[in-house]
Amino acid sequence: MQEQVPAESTAEGIAASLAERFGERFSVDPSLEGLGELARIAGHRVHRRFLPRAVEPALLRLLCACALSAPSKSDLQQGDILVVKDKGKQRAIAALIADMPWIADAPVFLVFLADGGRLPQIARLRGKPFPNDHLDLFFNAVVDSALVLATFMRAAAAVGLGCCPISAIRDRADVVSELLALPERVVPVAGLCVGWPAEAGGVTPRLGLETTLHEDRYRAGDLARELDAYDRRRERQRPYRRQRAPERWGEASFYGWSEDKARQYAEPLRADFGAFVRGKGFRLE
Ligand SMILES: Cc1cc2nc3c(=O)[nH]c(=O)nc-3n(C[C@H](O)[C@H](O)[C@H](O)COP(=O)(O)O)c2cc1C
Repeated sequence: MQEQVPAESTAEGIAASLAERFGERFSVDPSLEGLGELARIAGHRVHRRFLPRAVEPALLRLLCACALSAPSKSDLQQGDILVVKDKGKQRAIAALIADMPWIADAPVFLVFLADGGRLPQIARLRGKPFPNDHLDLFFNAVVDSALVLATFMRAAAAVGLGCCPISAIRDRADVVSELLALPERVVPVAGLCVGWPAEAGGVTPRLGLETTLHEDRYRAGDLARELDAYDRRRERQRPYRRQRAPERWGEASFYGWSEDKARQYAEPLRADFGAFVRGKGFRLE
């Protein structure tokens, strides 16, 4: 039997996770429905270390079915999941991304696909024109796929599994596509490592809601001040262990999130992805 956690302690746990996340105290009504689910969402963290314990195929299939129950734009159902069962293929994908050993180690590796190919096929099968071969086809498919990914992660967390999305598979989208035999207008959105977590992990602080939550109109506040407050809050909770590219940028005396992200995006990343997507037959106009 599952242990009953008192609602007050769950409400307190949610408030504690959100305080850690946003540096702000939220009041959580202990009489709310669904506090257990909120607690898991508020306490979200990715997992990159897994126990050497298999994930039962029936459980995996159940989680995939739950994930594919995610909402879908116009009920078009353009987000697919590919289970990489062949460990040789998983190792081949991992070998493309040298600095992420958790890809090879994950008991389960999935690839979430944006499937913009089915709809034009349906048009052909039904003898209809398809005047919608433009950016929106790609965009809708990617949104659906991302929703399926996020829903999978929620479902996995509900049964105690841990996950880590892997957008790095798009660094070599052409090779991944070839390996997984992805047809026209089907592109990988992200991989996902799944397994039983080997460690508890922790909450990663996010930008304050003053920056990311708007009311009635977009409010561009004093970004420099807000970033500084976030960088310092984050430094107290989860300081960076290493500075990125010190050979290019030197050693900063204070190294916060904004410095890290600015350094990360000072390098060209995946500049060839548009060409790959076009090469797969998507028209992005
Ligand atoms: C779409 C997406 C792609 C990601 N790609 C990678 C990746 O390639 N490698 C990795 O180790 N983590 C990846 N992550 C995990 C993020 O680094 C992680 O979510 C972020 O650092 C915040 O941590 P948290 O999710 O524990 O709050 C990805 C996350 C998302 C949502």
